[in-house]
Amino acid sequence: MKDDMIAPTKGERQGWTYDEFAQTGLDFADPAAVAAYDRRQGDRDAANAHLLEELGVTGGQVVVDLGTGTGSLAIAAARLGANVHAVDVSRPMLERARRKAAAAHVDGIEFHHAGFLTYRHRPGRADFIFSQFALHHLPDFWKQAALTRVASMLRSGGIFYLRDVVFSFEPKDQRQAVEAWIGAVAREDGSGWSRRDFEAHVREEYSTYAWIIEGMLTRAGFRIENIEQSLAAYATFLAIRP
Ligand SMILES: C[S@@+](CC[C@H](N)C(=O)[O-])C[C@H]1O[C@@H](n2cnc3c(N)ncnc32)[C@H](O)[C@@H]1O
Repeated sequence: MKDDMIAPTKGERQGWTYDEFAQTGLDFADPAAVAAYDRRQGDRDAANAHLLEELGVTGGQVVVDLGTGTGSLAIAAARLGANVHAVDVSRPMLERARRKAAAAHVDGIEFHHAGFLTYRHRPGRADFIFSQFALHHLPDFWKQAALTRVASMLRSGGIFYLRDVVFSFEPKDQRQAVEAWIGAVAREDGSGWSRRDFEAHVREEYSTYAWIIEGMLTRAGFRIENIEQSLAAYATFLAIRP
């Protein structure tokens, strides 16, 4: 496994450039938050393996996982023989992912300390880019910049799979819809995310409406193949670079 440190070069940063390495909301630079992450998020290994199979990821393909966290999807892709690039702005998360991959005797992952706005994919272009529950860390102006960069990293016909907390209720229903969502998913016994965590997510992170993400993907040049929504608070976008 190779480790590649990619930081924005001086010439690329302006006074107004967003610092994606500063944590927003839940602090994934905190080792305790990282250690608890898999327990609270739940075991998604089987779901990730199924997803990769369904999308046709096979050996030799180039897969990028943006905001890899503890690396579950990256490890599942590497198990299929893909050449995987696992990208995250949090060093403790990357360290956790690296240790999980080593414990699973999985090779074929390059870890990158970088993010949506700073990762430079090279050489060539990726066949697949995945991002699960990470894009909401960026404000909308920077989400658009991120999605435009994602499109430029994919080969023609390449697939972008995006899953995140994305709202699909009517704006006038905001109050009831957010309450209904938190009421349905919050756990107070330590087995998942608590009401306080979800409240902080809505208050401090940058989850937005599905119609905004849809418009951004289209602006970035993607053709949207499929959108799935649940609880009016989660959405999955399957997008193709034409
Ligand atoms: C909620 S976790 C999701 C992790 C993993 N994708 C999953 O589904 O379990 C969000 C991850 O995104 C990372 N992150 C935050 N801002 C980011 C950015 N600008 N670029 C890339 N990753 C980012 C965090 O460090 C964290 O590891």
